[in-house]
Amino acid sequence: MKLDPWGAVFVDDYSKLFDEFGISSFDKILPGIDKPHPYMRRKIIFGHRNYDSVLRAMQEHRPFAVMSGFMPSGRAHFGHMMVMNEIIWHQQQGGDAFAAIANMEAHAVRGISWSKCRELGINEYILSLIALGFEPNGHIYFQSDNFKMRNLAFELAAAANFSEVSAIYGFSGETSIAHMESVMAQSADILHPQLEEYGGPKPVVIPVGADQDPHIKLTRDLAYRMRRFLVERREEYVSIRGKSAGVDLMIAAEKALRSAGYHEVKRYEEHIDVLDIKNQEGLRSGSLLEEIDRLIIKVETDQGGYGFIPPASIYHRFMTGLAGGKMSSSKPESHIALTEDPKVAGKKIMKAITGGKQNLSEQKKLGGEPEKCSVYEFLVFHLSDDDSELSELYEQCRNGSKMCGTCKKDVAERIQIFLAEHQKAREAAKERLPEFGIKV
Ligand code: TRP
Ligand code: SF4
Repeated sequence: MKLDPWGAVFVDDYSKLFDEFGISSFDKILPGIDKPHPYMRRKIIFGHRNYDSVLRAMQEHRPFAVMSGFMPSGRAHFGHMMVMNEIIWHQQQGGDAFAAIANMEAHAVRGISWSKCRELGINEYILSLIALGFEPNGHIYFQSDNFKMRNLAFELAAAANFSEVSAIYGFSGETSIAHMESVMAQSADILHPQLEEYGGPKPVVIPVGADQDPHIKLTRDLAYRMRRFLVERREEYVSIRGKSAGVDLMIAAEKALRSAGYHEVKRYEEHIDVLDIKNQEGLRSGSLLEEIDRLIIKVETDQGGYGFIPPASIYHRFMTGLAGGKMSSSKPESHIALTEDPKVAGKKIMKAITGGKQNLSEQKKLGGEPEKCSVYEFLVFHLSDDDSELSELYEQCRNGSKMCGTCKKDVAERIQIFLAEHQKAREAAKERLPEFGIKV
């Protein structure tokens, strides 16, 4: 078996997500990405829903957006930084970027005071976002301040009911109403980049950890529910179902299709079939479906509808905790915070659990296991730009020519340099908060 330095071993644990939950493997679309982010190249981003639609928009220079959120409940660490970097990368590719500070969620679910949320939101998340390169043409907001989003949340709540939402989140009779509202706020966070005020319907990607997939699924469902038409692929043609369209809207849809050059258009009472599909390849890849959907969305929005496109998502693997187990904000020994004293960070690396053997001679004989090593993981995720350097270390570790002591020392040094630079950039970001509409 050929092991690649960031391959099969990591991804295996996640493969059941593909079959069980309908997440698609990122591998298949990776070749179509011009200059993929290192997270993509290194299989840290391992899965997606509907990311093809975002890629197509990127390649065809149509509007798209990226959106994710952070709950201000503790310190921001390297795990959160991944989401930040993913937002920023998409912004650099031309996407409109949105970052929510989920203070409604933190207040409702964790009982954190509004002022604490504000402080954590700015100090832990917003400053790091700016320091990492988030540009002011994007949108950073506190949920409670964003009334476009909050109004949409109310609208979405009118389309969701208690049983389905509690089946996803395990609500009970004791769950507070505010907790339920915060779930709707998250869906509205995700969909509001498609409101008219932000340029209307467009593909939006949500970079998150795989644990957030239930939110994505619910939101995709709500997006469908707000639509007046459903555009679907049949074997050889495209069918457009008018869910609550009414005759006028059905006629307008037919007209839009004909003036876009589709002629074999058959309109029935509740659906329209588009039969003259010349572009079979487009039908297969989904691009034709999207093209027709764009026409239909225009018909919807012209009549005051939302015309939402179901949000896309990309999923990254979690980092292992430095002390084994999960990396978590609530366990200081498991993570390194972005505001961590660099010296303390270096010490955490020196104490971290590695894939090394009990003693030196055994390690020389048998080699280490980089795929189980949290120190190696830090390099792959964050501290090395150089793929060949990583391949080399991977080999040296496995064949027993690299020892954990020297390896950890090197990584500890790198993390200190990284943090010192990041923290300097955070200081500079403090001056720039007004550019982002953040009042202190
Ligand atoms: N619920 C997310 C968390 O616990 C935070 C969040 C709020 C979010 N709104 C979002 C994530 C929108 C993605 C998209 O961290
Ligand atoms: Fe990890 Fe380095 Fe030790 Fe290998 S040598 S197990 S990569 S710390």
